[in-house]
Amino acid sequence: MNPFVLTGIIPDEFFCDRQRETEVIITSLENQSNILLTSSRRMGKTQLIRHVFEQKRIKERYCTFYTDIYATSSLQEMAYFLGKEIYRQLVPGEKKALKLFLNTLRSLSAAFSLDPVSGEPRINLQLGDINAPEMTLEEIFSYLENADKPCIVAIDEFQQISRYPDKNVEALLRTHIQTMNNCHFIFAGSDRHILEQMFSSYSKPFYNSAQPLRLGCIDKDKYVDFVVKNFDKAGIAIDSDVAGFCYDEFEGYTYYLHRIFHDIFSFSKEGDSIDKNVIKHTIDSILEENSHSYGKTMAELPMAQKQMLAAVAKERPAKNLTSGAFVKRNSLQSSSSAQKAVIKLLDQQLLTYDVTNGEKEYSVSDKFFERWLREVY
Ligand SMILES: Nc1ncnc2c1ncn2[C@@H]1O[C@H](COP(=O)(O)OP(=O)(O)OP(=O)(O)O)[C@@H](O)[C@H]1O
Ligand SMILES: [Mg+2]
Repeated sequence: MNPFVLTGIIPDEFFCDRQRETEVIITSLENQSNILLTSSRRMGKTQLIRHVFEQKRIKERYCTFYTDIYATSSLQEMAYFLGKEIYRQLVPGEKKALKLFLNTLRSLSAAFSLDPVSGEPRINLQLGDINAPEMTLEEIFSYLENADKPCIVAIDEFQQISRYPDKNVEALLRTHIQTMNNCHFIFAGSDRHILEQMFSSYSKPFYNSAQPLRLGCIDKDKYVDFVVKNFDKAGIAIDSDVAGFCYDEFEGYTYYLHRIFHDIFSFSKEGDSIDKNVIKHTIDSILEENSHSYGKTMAELPMAQKQMLAAVAKERPAKNLTSGAFVKRNSLQSSSSAQKAVIKLLDQQLLTYDVTNGEKEYSVSDKFFERWLREVY
């Protein structure tokens, strides 16, 4: 099996490091805190949540639920996905918990039936069955509050709720979450812009309601060790310098490194030796493979956004994007059009930023795309 797992659940032996973060999250949950887990895109939030849920301390004491709301655009859909996830988790377990869940979700009673043979309750939930999402959510939370075991609910891509057209979504969720003792939440997402506003503005309902954890890169030594060890097990040689070179090229961004080593591993055989040229060649093939879709993304952007994206890709670090100097250096139109372009690009998650010494440093979210832009523009 390829040790650089790109999709699905990562088996424990192929999960790299994150020991400190795992400990911090578990301890916080045990101390009844909610967590706000943020990072740049593809750094490893989702996998970390899964990993936490697999740990003995969590598995034995809690019921855990994970829902990704990236694709949702209303409270109705959120209630639908959350309800489905809880049902899915409960089905293989004790019948008592499932019955309590079905009895609590009265607003969805139309979607329930009894199995004619076994007499067991069944649910056939369609999105359209959720006519009163606020009521359904209240029932879901009420179920979680009354469940036998304490519950942990992870809501991934949580920034999405700020895009729902429903009124007062944040206040509504916050009211429920605040009053729950038996259930704790992990809110995760990469849209720092929105999540920070949600959780750190005094005037917002979620203000101070979760302990923030910003996930950085996996430590270089640990990642390099992981690479060398796993290639070594397959009889393939790679120097820590070579693995370290790749780490630096992608500034430690987990997915991009993993993708490169996944590809290298898949076409290498016992006795091979990996050098820097193999790394460079692999990166080139990945960029070539994606070049059509990158080109398409660029073609669909208005000129000001296109120019801004290319400018950010080239300037490292890219700071003060609306300053006169940045605008001039990159032949942009004006500060005000630069500002509009940045807002749009952040909103589409094409751009992202980190804060270093109180200053925002911007970068292209997709690191392969960033590299492609540097080469093509
Ligand atoms: N600790 C880890 N050990 C091994 N591989 C990892 C680890 N963390 C992340 N990865 C790799 O990086 C990929 C991206 O991780 P993940 O999906 O968790 O990131 P994310 O921060 O949730 O991304 P997004 O912002 O796109 O949702 C994984 O599919 C996996 O290949
Ligand atoms: Mg994720």
